[in-house]
Amino acid sequence: MAVDFDLDLTDLIMSGHLIDIRAAKILIVDDDPLIVDVLSVVLKEGEYQNIFSTGDPYQVIPLYKEHRFDLIILDIQMPGMSGIKILQQLQKVVKSSFLPVVVLTAHGDQKIRKQVLGMGAKDFITKPFEHWEILLRIQNALHASLYHKQQVSLKDLLEGEIQKRTKEILETQFEIVHRLAVAGEMRDNETGAHVQRMSHICSLLSRKRGLGSEFSKLMLYASAMHDVGKIGIPDSILLKSKGLSPEEWLVMQQHPNIGARIIGNHSSKLISLAREIALCHHEKWDGSGYPNGISGNQIPVSARIAAISDVFDALTSDRPYKQAWAIEEVVETLQAESGKHFEPVMVELFLENLAEIIEIKDRYIDHEFHLT
Ligand code: C2E
Ligand code: SIN
Ligand code: SIN
Ligand code: FE
Ligand code: FE
Repeated sequence: MAVDFDLDLTDLIMSGHLIDIRAAKILIVDDDPLIVDVLSVVLKEGEYQNIFSTGDPYQVIPLYKEHRFDLIILDIQMPGMSGIKILQQLQKVVKSSFLPVVVLTAHGDQKIRKQVLGMGAKDFITKPFEHWEILLRIQNALHASLYHKQQVSLKDLLEGEIQKRTKEILETQFEIVHRLAVAGEMRDNETGAHVQRMSHICSLLSRKRGLGSEFSKLMLYASAMHDVGKIGIPDSILLKSKGLSPEEWLVMQQHPNIGARIIGNHSSKLISLAREIALCHHEKWDGSGYPNGISGNQIPVSARIAAISDVFDALTSDRPYKQAWAIEEVVETLQAESGKHFEPVMVELFLENLAEIIEIKDRYIDHEFHLT
């Protein structure tokens, strides 16, 4: 799937994702005030604007936590706490793999140099030092540090953007499904309450069947489209008050296929579930249903749930061709159809939860159509 990102360089700079090297935050750590002074002067000559310093090794970690420096110039030999110890602590505090540290060492400290570079320090500066050398080494280390920081924040930014888009796409899908369900429903039922009740019953039964809360939510929306194919059935048949002729009945039985064609093939979980329900909601457990006459577990569980919910609601409601039945009669019919029209497990589950189902039935009578 192609996703456009409305990001350009200006946005990045404005939001601080590209940072001017002179604005980088630099911390100087040395117990010798003279060295701190010299380094500060050199950095100011180099036009760096955010220079911090401390002579107290114990301040390094708290200061870093507060300011998240882009570079730390760290003396390795200090009384109280060694630079090595500070490096170890920094490794824990700096969450990324990049340690923005340049180490100050005395001339000839081969062993220490090897150790600090191994610990992730980016470079070292030998005392006494030349000004130009300091500036070049710091500039190099800062380039690396800022580049790294920019990569990390770009990655965060893109991930955030992708999450936002994914959510929008999901919401759009739900909205479209909802609209299509309304369109299908408006043909033979003005209030839309049938689809609303039917889909809430489907969602409840999915949950009771242990299919999980994500699936149950998808069922709520997907099952609402089960009769979208009725859009393709002429009013003269759909709204007929008497029994249908065999020819009319053949037309009527096209609605699952029409629905599947309207919904289409799409890899999205919601759309493919909706399609499967539209296509299979009139299949029967014993294989005597339509359009394909599949039986038992060949029928997707979504459609087994939809079939019993649909019939229950159709029987307990007035239709253009029939009056509503009493609950007792409906329960008898569901029991009689166990193993014929319906999966036996579904009938049991349905009757175990009959009280909650009747609550749903009573809740959605004449409200505006809204799936919530
Ligand atoms: P529907 O009205 O939503 O009915 C859904 C299903 O509930 C029906 O699927 C059927 O399994 C069950 N059902 C509904 N009313 C009765 C009933 O009085 N007795 C029994 N035993 N079961 C009932 P089915 O039969 O595949 O019908 C699918 C759709 O075809 C119905 O949806 C309805 O729109 C239409 N239809 C079915 N029979 C007639 C009819 O005699 N006249 C008209 N105008 N439409 C009909
Ligand atoms: C309706 O009458 O609006 C829906 C019928 C069905 O669920 O089959
Ligand atoms: C079937 O298609 O074989 C029947 C399944 C059902 O309607 O529950
Ligand atoms: Fe149907
Ligand atoms: Fe229905």
